[in-house]
Amino acid sequence: MQNNIFSTLFIGQNYIKLTSVDSTNTYLKNILTNSEPLPEGTVIMAENQFSGRGQLQNKWLSKPGENLTFSVYLKPNFLTITQQFYLNITVSLGVWEVLERYLGADVKIKWPNDIYYKDKKLGGILIENSIQGSLFKNTIIGIGINVNQQAFDAELSDKAISLNQILHKNVDINALMTDICQVIEKYYFQLKAQKLEKLMADYQAQLYQLHQASLFEKDGEVFVGVVRGVTNSGQLQIEVNHHMETYNFKEIKFIKPEPNNPIIT
Ligand code: BTN
Repeated sequence: MQNNIFSTLFIGQNYIKLTSVDSTNTYLKNILTNSEPLPEGTVIMAENQFSGRGQLQNKWLSKPGENLTFSVYLKPNFLTITQQFYLNITVSLGVWEVLERYLGADVKIKWPNDIYYKDKKLGGILIENSIQGSLFKNTIIGIGINVNQQAFDAELSDKAISLNQILHKNVDINALMTDICQVIEKYYFQLKAQKLEKLMADYQAQLYQLHQASLFEKDGEVFVGVVRGVTNSGQLQIEVNHHMETYNFKEIKFIKPEPNNPIIT
């Protein structure tokens, strides 16, 4: 469906809005599996996503009509497998930049690609790739933002936050989506132009808890570490006892900022 609500070159120029779906990522994946041709930049948005998926097989819960849940189809066939993390960077920066316009400097990117406001999660990103040889074939970018939901279930209420809870007013969900698509497209063009150093520098500058002491858990052990950056392949660099360690996503769990949250130079 052609439309003109997106002021972009390609992201959202094919736009499908669904009243209700299990998961916008799954919906996109099914279209691609059925080999139906789909233009790069296709956006699928759902008013009600009733079986949303998050990272690490978690669920993504979102009250119908109150939040933003959508997926973007990209074909980054210019990107090598070793540059995979730059997709996370590109999308995180796109979402972060728009939310920062609404909420200011307290919006941060929690490695690898959660969007945080202070110490609570405002949004999440689920990137699913299919690979052919050493290049990317299809990439599905799923984005969920807590927008107008005013209360979360008990198990989420101390971890999640919405734009409405911060701003005390409703935010236009469609405008938020089209702005995010526009800014992701901007960073995606930087990625295509191989501006990798700039993308990495912009991403690291917005990292949650950068140079601040946090509590982490690995193999059941809790330790204090200071986030110092991210490697090109997307591992988190943490200074632990004056040594730099690198960790994969599944290897380590962030628990919370250290009490008093000191900045460590
Ligand atoms: C996470 O933080 O764990 C990632 C959450 C990603 C949620 C979005 S909502 C739209 C898209 N469809 C899904 O099923 N998941 C993503």
